[in-house]
Amino acid sequence: MVNAREHRAIGVAVLGFGNVGSEVVRIIRDQAADLEQRVGARLELRGIAVRDTSRDRGLDPALFTSDAEALVAREDVDIVVEVIGGIDYARRLILSALGSGKSVVTANKALLAEHTGELAEAAESKNVDLYFEASVAGAIPVIRPLTQSLAGDRVNQVAGIVNGTTNFILSAMDDTGADYAETLAEAGRLGYAEADPTADVEGYDAAAKAAILASIAFHSRVTAADVHREGISTITPADFESARALDCTIKLLSICERVRSADGRERVSARVYPALVPLSHPLASVGGAFNAVVVEAENAGRLMFYGQGAGGAPTASAVMGDLVMAARNKVNGGRGPRESRYANLEVAPMRDITTRYFVNMQVTDKAGVLSAVAAEFAAHGVSISTVRQEGAGDGARLVVVTHTATDAALSDTVEALGKLEFVTAVTSVLRLEGTQQ
Ligand code: NDP
Ligand code: HSE
Repeated sequence: MVNAREHRAIGVAVLGFGNVGSEVVRIIRDQAADLEQRVGARLELRGIAVRDTSRDRGLDPALFTSDAEALVAREDVDIVVEVIGGIDYARRLILSALGSGKSVVTANKALLAEHTGELAEAAESKNVDLYFEASVAGAIPVIRPLTQSLAGDRVNQVAGIVNGTTNFILSAMDDTGADYAETLAEAGRLGYAEADPTADVEGYDAAAKAAILASIAFHSRVTAADVHREGISTITPADFESARALDCTIKLLSICERVRSADGRERVSARVYPALVPLSHPLASVGGAFNAVVVEAENAGRLMFYGQGAGGAPTASAVMGDLVMAARNKVNGGRGPRESRYANLEVAPMRDITTRYFVNMQVTDKAGVLSAVAAEFAAHGVSISTVRQEGAGDGARLVVVTHTATDAALSDTVEALGKLEFVTAVTSVLRLEGTQQ
């Protein structure tokens, strides 16, 4: 423990001066007096690591270095803020900081979703903090509520919209009727989608966040590889039309929940996919690039967190919250919560997960089609809730909504439907979330 009276300043190194890092530095400088009062010591910026030191960044050039490792190693650095991104180099820098007894704040979801265990153990062995509020849902406080506010409750589900780019695209497709490619191009023009949008549109970013959420909510280790992942690139305007006919919209959901296996064992499910969501569900009204996370806890009931899930200043807000916590711990002694993985729950395979489904197929418009289709659902033990024909003649489509069934039963049904003479194509299969039955 460090005596507060001896602790006149906390040395901070910021690794990265991009969207997030530049805003972190701005806040440290602009709010220095307030931050000093809140921490009980001055936060002193020791240096900023960037790739290119030749660019004018509007600050004293002496603050910048391209040697992040040397900056981390400086004796007068107490806390390292990692906002460079990427996995290998960031991992090395963070391990080096933790290994020399420095607390770390990071926004790096890609790294955490693969290496939380190793990083948490390094923090543990030196009794320092590893904070990562900004890694999930940007400005929205969700890590701290799960690890601290709900530490005395039992969380059963954490579900939400944790990727702003895809939510922008799906909201725009729903609002305008435009197709996926057009809307993705518009998202790129407006600066929401990156030049290579794969991580967002194929669900990798949301899966990384789901892994982090599942690990902390269920006191287990879940990595990105454990998360079932499907993206949004196959969603069509026709899917939105069908969704509207069912009073639903389509959202890319990250769902983490406790599930029970057939033998009664408790397991964790972590999955990311586009799903139909009833318009009456709170997540349906989360539009544009906003994020929202709904937590279901045994005693607290349903809690909803909503706000900006990305962007320099919103993300820097979450980083700063962590920085203040880590700095207070340096001043007062002690540390924040450790990694909690005592429950060590196994991850349930997707085939065991039960949800409702929406199956859209092109069919030959003639007598007997409906009964042949219904018979396949029945043969695989999948109960139909509603069935509707859309269009006629060559454009005839059957839209089936099921009661809950396992993913395995539904996959087998779809495979069998594809072989039916009357079914020209199964054009889409989406899950229906947020309803009972
Ligand atoms: P940027 O690409 O905008 O910034 C990255 C910064 O890191 C740049 O300043 C770059 O230097 C610097 N950098 C890259 N490589 C090196 C290196 N080898 N040595 C030293 N510096 C280096 O990233 P963001 O600010 O957008 O994101 C940072 C982190 O925050 C990522 O982990 C991201 O996933 C996470 N995050 C970002 C959000 C957002 O909205 N942007 C939201 C939530 C999390 P230079 O300026 O010279 O190129
Ligand atoms: N690409 C991410 C998104 C940034 O669109 O939500 C925030 O993690």
